[in-house]
Amino acid sequence: MIAIGNDHTGYELKKAIIKYFEEKGIEYKDFGSQKVTSSDYPEFAKAVATAIQNKECDKGILICGTGIGISIAANKMKGIRAALCHDCFSAEATRLHNDANILAMGARVVGPGLALKIVETFLNTEFSGDQRHIRRIQMLEE
Ligand code: RB5
Repeated sequence: MIAIGNDHTGYELKKAIIKYFEEKGIEYKDFGSQKVTSSDYPEFAKAVATAIQNKECDKGILICGTGIGISIAANKMKGIRAALCHDCFSAEATRLHNDANILAMGARVVGPGLALKIVETFLNTEFSGDQRHIRRIQMLEE
């Protein structure tokens, strides 16, 4: 189950990602703004991060204008590793190395075509499980 959240700037991209999820049969819960009128990204970051903390969802996707504010907000929450990615290399690497549980993107930075490829890469890449990466991830929580 994928948690998705967005502020007003991410509403249109969120809809494109949901369309992709529905085509692929990927289950999701939408915690985002349903409007394009001004909203506050920390609210949606907290909702998605909480769904991951309580294991209601396995991974999350967060979208704001730049992806920066919403990833900063998510990363303040225990156990959350939100990675801001605007390319597929980073999306793959953050799953392999950081076991990132949230992908953040900026709807004002990437177009929907690239964003969907980034989502696909993020969701289809497993954590490497290498000891050095496990150790570093544990250090993030100390
Ligand atoms: C909203 O205008 C914008 O500040 C927000 O979407 C995000 O980019 C913040 O980091």
